[in-house]
Amino acid sequence: MRIDIITVLPELLKSPFEASILQRAIDKGLVEVHFHNLRDFATGKYRQVDDYQFGGGAGMVLMVEPIDKCISKLKSERTYDEVIYMTPDGNTLNQGLANEISLKKNLIILCGHYKGVDQRVRDMFVTREISIGDYVLSGGELAAAVLCDAVIRLLPGVLNDETSALTDTFQDNMLAPPVYTRPASYKGNEVPKILLSGNFPKIEQWREEQALERTRKRRPDLLE
Ligand code: ADE
Repeated sequence: MRIDIITVLPELLKSPFEASILQRAIDKGLVEVHFHNLRDFATGKYRQVDDYQFGGGAGMVLMVEPIDKCISKLKSERTYDEVIYMTPDGNTLNQGLANEISLKKNLIILCGHYKGVDQRVRDMFVTREISIGDYVLSGGELAAAVLCDAVIRLLPGVLNDETSALTDTFQDNMLAPPVYTRPASYKGNEVPKILLSGNFPKIEQWREEQALERTRKRRPDLLE
């Protein structure tokens, strides 16, 4: 997979890709992530990327021309499966959507800023609009990092057996069961006996029951 991220603040985005699982995925050559500073595609003395909105009102809007230039340059080099725009009015990201996007090959992710992008960017180039939740961030960068993390960890070879995505919360519309590690007893708090029994079919059954119980209690909407 290749991901090209277009942003006015590349420095805000880089660190999540320089640690842990994402870094390992990049080092293993399982994913390539490239950052493109929108300002490099701006013209004029001031390299302007945003402007006041027509009709008046507070807040700056990212201009269509620099975004067009950047996207057109990328598209002249390869074909893209999706141009994703991170925006609070997009479709809310969930595990199903992450799974779907993890099957794509080449992605462009566009990060909005200020009041967002000129509507013509959305009309002309964007194939998908994604929100990471019903709250407003100061830009799409952190949202793009969240999307990339959720997607990249699903790529074959990124996780080892130990951290396999198959047992994650949400992977089968179910929350994950509780987990424990040593010591077996801590300040009078005991690990459930079943987990120490060595009876693996029984342990599996217990985990399924716990997952169901937890999902019923905390997220009944997932079971509907
Ligand atoms: N940009 C600003 N807020 C956002 C959100 N909640 N999701 C995606 N992009 C955003």
